[in-house]
Amino acid sequence: MNIGVFASGRGSNFQAILNAIQQGLLPARVTLLLSNKSDAGAFEIARSHAIPAVHLSQKLFSDEASFAAAMLQTLWDHEVRLIALAGYLKKIPTIVVREYRNRILNIHPALLPSFGGQGMYGHHVHEAVLASGAKLSGATVHLVDEEYDRGPIVLQKTVPVEEHDTPETLAARVLKVEHEIYLLALKAFAENRLTIQGRSVWIR
Ligand code: GRF
Repeated sequence: MNIGVFASGRGSNFQAILNAIQQGLLPARVTLLLSNKSDAGAFEIARSHAIPAVHLSQKLFSDEASFAAAMLQTLWDHEVRLIALAGYLKKIPTIVVREYRNRILNIHPALLPSFGGQGMYGHHVHEAVLASGAKLSGATVHLVDEEYDRGPIVLQKTVPVEEHDTPETLAARVLKVEHEIYLLALKAFAENRLTIQGRSVWIR
């Protein structure tokens, strides 16, 4: 299965996906890294694994339609079957969501539907979890639809929120389970073990 990874930042989820492929744990290959940020750390990871990498930012286009068309063409050029968002901070254009319906996954560092939506990324999420007094946090893999963090949930795993947690210590604990469950979800997809019925998704 050909995966296209979208990342805006350092790329630890991207690296975890590549490690799993190299260890024979994930029957797939990454044929594309796409980023909206020309200085994303993920580019260095792509370079070191000889993975084609494309900088695609809406700022480089006169309108959203031509940006979305360029994104679709880039996906087709790299024969991408599944899109894996890994710290990609932009909303996916509607025509791409439609073309790749139920074939776009995202990892979010909290237990959706709580602590998600526009602006809820990185340390903002963990600050909100700590401010809420929640005793559990965790990570969520979900299918991507036309709204931020609202698509059907595929997998979740919890972590405890500890007394002296800071956004950084909580983020580090959550990141570990992110890498773990993203692999499980991608593997289930690659092995056709996902059942999707409306908003319900089950792994066989
Ligand atoms: C992760 O915490 C992910 O859940 C969120 O963005 C962060 C990206 O981290 N969407 P990395 O770039 O994969 O290390």
